[in-house]
Amino acid sequence: MARGKFITVEGGDGVGKSTNIRFLSELIEARGFAVQLTREPGGTPLAERIRTLLLEHGEEPLPDTAELLLFFAARALNLNNRIKPALAAGDWVVCDRFTDASRAYQGAGRGLDQDKIEILAEWVHGDLQPELTILLDAPPSVGFDRAEKRGSADRLESEQASFYKRVRAGYLALAAAEPARFAVIDASGELAGVQRQISSAMDRLFADNQN
Ligand code: TYD
Repeated sequence: MARGKFITVEGGDGVGKSTNIRFLSELIEARGFAVQLTREPGGTPLAERIRTLLLEHGEEPLPDTAELLLFFAARALNLNNRIKPALAAGDWVVCDRFTDASRAYQGAGRGLDQDKIEILAEWVHGDLQPELTILLDAPPSVGFDRAEKRGSADRLESEQASFYKRVRAGYLALAAAEPARFAVIDASGELAGVQRQISSAMDRLFADNQN
């Protein structure tokens, strides 16, 4: 049986990842592939508990290094217990955020050493890279407005605008460095236009994976 494809979806907070991930999974199913949705941090029971630790306003400061290591600990759980078995069974996997989020948020946003992040990436997932990474790109103000409508901000959503500017620039730099893996989607406009762009990125992937 053919191994499934691994697709990740990235972007700043409030760019419409959830809606577009549902759309993406429908596109994959319509082509006759089984798809599993997962998210980071999270995706397995234990990793979801780490997610709670990361997003709550906890009782003590969370040092940047502890934050980074918790994201990678959650990733190791999701990869070994969920993503790899699904791909081996032939399912496609769509993951809401992956290592690019650590590069953009902890690297570009917090200023942690990118080389150290790459050491963790190599350690945790080695040569397992996403086949396609959809980057939903929008100015931070778009995300702020949408996130505000959803109610109270979690620990990461409480960061300053300057942090989100660095995160966005970090993502765009990653996409520029790996244009074959990334599809950069302008997520600031209407949903129909965003989904047209996602469909054409997926058409290219399907063309390489005829049933
Ligand atoms: P997510 O569930 O995608 O939040 P939202 O749907 O609100 O965009 O991600 C949770 C938060 O964790 C988000 O603020 C991004 C952050 N994050 C990192 O900082 N580093 C990481 O490696 C990952 C996976 C997420």
